[in-house]
Amino acid sequence: MQIKPEKLPKHAAVIMDGNGRWADQHDLPRAQGHLEGAESARVIIETCARINPIKYLTLYTFSTENWSRPQSEVDFIMQQLVRYLEENKEKMHDEGVRFKAIGRISDLPEDVRKLVKATEEYTACGSNLTLMMALNYGARAEIVDACRALCKDAVNGNINPTEIDQATFQSKLYTTDAPDPDLLIRSGGEMRLSNFLLWQISYSEIYVTDVLWPDFKEDELMRAFNDYAGRERRFGGRETHDTRQ
Ligand code: IPE
Ligand code: IPE
Ligand code: MG
Repeated sequence: MQIKPEKLPKHAAVIMDGNGRWADQHDLPRAQGHLEGAESARVIIETCARINPIKYLTLYTFSTENWSRPQSEVDFIMQQLVRYLEENKEKMHDEGVRFKAIGRISDLPEDVRKLVKATEEYTACGSNLTLMMALNYGARAEIVDACRALCKDAVNGNINPTEIDQATFQSKLYTTDAPDPDLLIRSGGEMRLSNFLLWQISYSEIYVTDVLWPDFKEDELMRAFNDYAGRERRFGGRETHDTRQ
């Protein structure tokens, strides 16, 4: 499957869903689904780092709502996150992957927070791919945090409220310097956004597959990119081949 470089997304965002159902289908504990899901994430990161036109990959890893799961599952996910970063820090560095966490990072357990910071620093020079890992991420929380930051600037006299525009607002989001995602992928078949990147995906192309995340490897990613390559993005304008008055 050969896709023209200009037809690939510069920024792909992924809702990695379906670990639990995959485990159920294989008669395994949910934890096993999360482990195989982490392996899918590793493969997708590595693949995107290799494909030159792709410069940003955002992975929805843990939402602000996921704390409502049983404590044992939350603990397991956090442990695996630590293991994943410890095992892959060096590799990300070598592959030119710049790691950045987005979300309310200050509310994560201390060991996760420290490792996140250390990984960000260690991989800061990566120029092949910026990997934005959404951890304790919620789009509504992100928008509220951006509003707080703008209000603070206004109170301190650093910004005039009448001058706030979309660009100023965007600059306060966690994703600040990244372009909006061109493509949003959701595995696991659910037709919803689950509080992911509400501002940034205004004009993203959406691809939902029934494939469960632990089964989503390189060939499924290519299927998504191939589908994206066939889309015509209009941004509210008209079809490019429409020459009627
Ligand atoms: C996604 O898989 C992983 C996280 C949300 C952390 P799920 O655990 O939500 O799997 P399903 O949706 O129950 O199958
Ligand atoms: C979305 O999946 C969050 C992540 C993939 C991290 P969920 O499983 O939490 O979403 P819902 O509950 O099906 O909406
Ligand atoms: Mg789910």
